[in-house]
Amino acid sequence: MADVPLRSRNWFGKKDLDGFAHRSWVKAEGFSEAMFDGRPVIGIANSWSELTSCNAHLRQVAEAVKRGVLSAGGFPLEFPTISLGEVLMKPTTMLFRNLMAMDVEECIRAYPLDGVVLLSGCDKTTPAMLMGAASADVPAIVVTGGPMLRGIRGQEELGSGTDTWRLWAERRAGRLSEEEFCEYEACMSRSAGHCMVMGTASTMAAMAEALGMALPGNAAIPAADARRMVLAELAGRRIIEMAREGLRPSRILTAAAFDNAIRADMAIGGSTNAIIHLVAIAGRAGVTLPLTRFDELSRATPLLVNVKPSGKYLMEDFFYAGGLPAVLRELLPLLHRDALTVNGKTLGENVAGAENWNRDVIRPLGMPLAPEGGTVILTGNLCPDGAVLKQSAASSHLLTHRGRAVVFEDHDDLHARIDDPSLPVDETSVLVLKRVGPKGAPGMPEWGAAPIPARLLKAGVKDMVRISDARMSGTSYGTVVLHVSPEAAVGGPLALVQDGDEIELDVPNRRLSLRVPDEELARRRAAWTPRPPHYERGYGRLFLDHVLQAHEGADFDFLRGKTPVRFEDSAGPSHA
Ligand code: FES
Repeated sequence: MADVPLRSRNWFGKKDLDGFAHRSWVKAEGFSEAMFDGRPVIGIANSWSELTSCNAHLRQVAEAVKRGVLSAGGFPLEFPTISLGEVLMKPTTMLFRNLMAMDVEECIRAYPLDGVVLLSGCDKTTPAMLMGAASADVPAIVVTGGPMLRGIRGQEELGSGTDTWRLWAERRAGRLSEEEFCEYEACMSRSAGHCMVMGTASTMAAMAEALGMALPGNAAIPAADARRMVLAELAGRRIIEMAREGLRPSRILTAAAFDNAIRADMAIGGSTNAIIHLVAIAGRAGVTLPLTRFDELSRATPLLVNVKPSGKYLMEDFFYAGGLPAVLRELLPLLHRDALTVNGKTLGENVAGAENWNRDVIRPLGMPLAPEGGTVILTGNLCPDGAVLKQSAASSHLLTHRGRAVVFEDHDDLHARIDDPSLPVDETSVLVLKRVGPKGAPGMPEWGAAPIPARLLKAGVKDMVRISDARMSGTSYGTVVLHVSPEAAVGGPLALVQDGDEIELDVPNRRLSLRVPDEELARRRAAWTPRPPHYERGYGRLFLDHVLQAHEGADFDFLRGKTPVRFEDSAGPSHA
């Protein structure tokens, strides 16, 4: 393909006042005239932060990208983005995903970049990068930081989050001492990288790869493996070609690419969060992606990957088994092979030679772990616009269940009463948590896997049906109905549930029903009033005014669709 004109020439290529200013100020950083000779300018969008431990090594990854850019004849310029640290950020990183996406989009568009390498890792940082890049539509490659090495205590392997929840349940049940619990703490997270189960970070890294926005193999290489840096260097080299070819995200993020990503998500037992993020990214790319599409593909895509929380292995094992290319090769008969990817080849070409080195970690298509995908979409009078359940991490005996609701009006109410010995609850009860959705919490935190009451834990109960408008950590497990839409805070049917109501979960038929007469629900609706908003000003106010519901990806209403605004053609100096 012939070289396309480079955006950066509008800043650096002119021999006038603007060109003088643009070059002169950048020369203050010590760059020579050679950097302004017409070579592609590559941004390295870095979500590095010591507050985001999963991304704390991304400065080193950026150095490898720069090496690649320079060796391929480009001019790399690294810039920071907001970083979203899943563990420390309150009330939830999801409140800020759209803010980070806006940051990424506007920086790409406003600066003289011909291409961008997006460095991400922790859960929301990858979808935010993809959303921003899709909207800016400048050539882009995602490089994620890679998963941590496996956790290990003695001979016991430990998965991020997944084993944290299990150990905490053991501690609450009195089967684990405080000293033992603390010892596990130091054994679980022992290297750079993001959570090393198939949580949201691993899932979204896989989604970037399946969408065609990352180089083959990106998702699973451990952060501590030298091949992570090799991949980063190769991304730096490849983005130069993409800039010259004009290979923009809009050519890659097609309906076929989203189908491929959904198939991959179902096969890996990916995080439920992938659904909300894929819908949001599709919205930026102008691709319509209703929840029904996830269920259609879930029913027709087997679960192949045996990694926690759906299976027994960890991301390191997944990498050694062949990583996502091996999964995609198994899935090839179900995929759109011709979907274009960032390396200029099709998905089918990329994975045709992929080896599956361990058929217990990555099952062949004919010997799946389960015949259907990991995640299902539910509908019914309790969730008219849909809800999500990860069946691969649920208890099979609860997938068809009727029980009486035990209702918590919000998260504080849950924590105040869940371990109250007088709470009228047994293992058949359905725990219902309200006001933890996009507007309710606010920000739709990962509070959906509500704790099992300690009294029941001590009696040996390991799982119960739980329903909310929240999300759930990708590392969590249990029979947990999430993303109920519309949410309780805007008056969705979830707001009307009362203690003792009968609820029916029927996963095989994808139904979630509140078995209360319509007249009674109408009476309750007439008496329902919303709570005052959480924020009167600032970003929180913007969020509440514009966030969409879960089934729409919880993006802002004004950010969907394409806005081909390009500042490189605007005249006038951009300096003071
Ligand atoms: Fe960052 Fe899990 S806390 S990926």
